[in-house]
Amino acid sequence: MRVDVIINNIGKLVTMRGKNSPRIKDEMNDLEIIENAYIAIADGKIVEVGTGNEYENIVQEYTSIENANGLLVTPGLIDSHTHLVHGGSRENEFSKKLAGVPYIEILNQGGGILSTVKSTKEATFEELYNKSRKSLDRMLEFGVTTVEAKSGYGLELDTELKQLKVAKKLNENHPIDLVNTFLGAHAIPPEYKENHKVYIDIIVEEMMPKVKDLGLAEFCDVFCEEGVFSIEESAYILSKAKEMGYKLKIHADEIVSLGGAELSAKLKCISSDHLMAASQEGLKEMAKNKVVANLLPATSFNLNKDYANARKMIDFNVPVSLSSDYNPGSCPSENLQLVMQLGCLGLKMTPNEVLTAVTINAACSINRHKEVGSIEIGKKADLAVFDAPNIEYLMYHFGINHIERVYKEGKLVV
Ligand code: NIG
Ligand code: FE
Repeated sequence: MRVDVIINNIGKLVTMRGKNSPRIKDEMNDLEIIENAYIAIADGKIVEVGTGNEYENIVQEYTSIENANGLLVTPGLIDSHTHLVHGGSRENEFSKKLAGVPYIEILNQGGGILSTVKSTKEATFEELYNKSRKSLDRMLEFGVTTVEAKSGYGLELDTELKQLKVAKKLNENHPIDLVNTFLGAHAIPPEYKENHKVYIDIIVEEMMPKVKDLGLAEFCDVFCEEGVFSIEESAYILSKAKEMGYKLKIHADEIVSLGGAELSAKLKCISSDHLMAASQEGLKEMAKNKVVANLLPATSFNLNKDYANARKMIDFNVPVSLSSDYNPGSCPSENLQLVMQLGCLGLKMTPNEVLTAVTINAACSINRHKEVGSIEIGKKADLAVFDAPNIEYLMYHFGINHIERVYKEGKLVV
């Protein structure tokens, strides 16, 4: 057996291996933790996991042995909901927000998403690339090795394509793997305010086929919300997307309980995201249809809103993942460790549930569970090495970066 790298002397190795589908209930809590472990890597993939010195008989003269110094190792973290590629920043809305002006009202006044649409249109490909690369560098420093990136700040073909092409190029050039999502249905451009149908036809007839033809996005997403895209409009856009071969995601029941959770179940979305106002019925339907609830607690924190009812979701057998929602309005932060801490402090999830939510369940929520999300033979050697004695410490000692080292496909990247 060829072995390029062995990481030995791992104090605690959290594998998340064994179930390559979304984990529910107790499965989110019952984690395999191997003490005094090692991982053998060849060609960027994991080829063996063992304990103590058992690796000695597989060491070749070219094998590099790297000491984890007794630290905590987990699968590389996965941020499965971001609006990574965008122009500008919206700190100019901060004082309005602090004074209590609602998020949707700022949008209706032409600010919010629409102001970022303007900055994104004005930005060149290079400017967007460099700004997004900086954000990815930050994410990597926090232990994130896979990121989902949405379009949605163009609302016309060229700018939507520009965003997706930036993410595609970053996927080629940056250590982080990216998964692209088309979100042309993120807001209604002001010129179509009185006639949604015209814009929806542009999305469905012009943008979605083009994005698909160019291979620029695997998922299609819609911001289903009162005053944005209604249930009927979202259902129409997502069903068309499904026919074209997209996998589905939805921003559902974030502010108003519209029935987005129910819709995500009906359409068998891979994930349904936000869900602060989701109904009980909707959650039960999601559980039946194995839709992952992708929760975004840093958005609740930043908008000073209620947290989603994660405890109820877990009770109802809904698989839960957690992501940053990194974007310039509702969550201007790339820090997934903060999201994990808010997963405990805000969503009342246990540290083990939180770790499941940002590894294997997050991988499932972007259809990457066969490649990443757990430490097992055949998967990418994406690893987060934390200077922490146990999982609890990661969430308990909040507000700092616990990363000591990050490996992406077996290579040291941080
Ligand atoms: O997921 N809710 C809609 N979209 C984003 C926010 C985007 C923005 O404010 O720019 C979200 O929170
Ligand atoms: Fe979002």
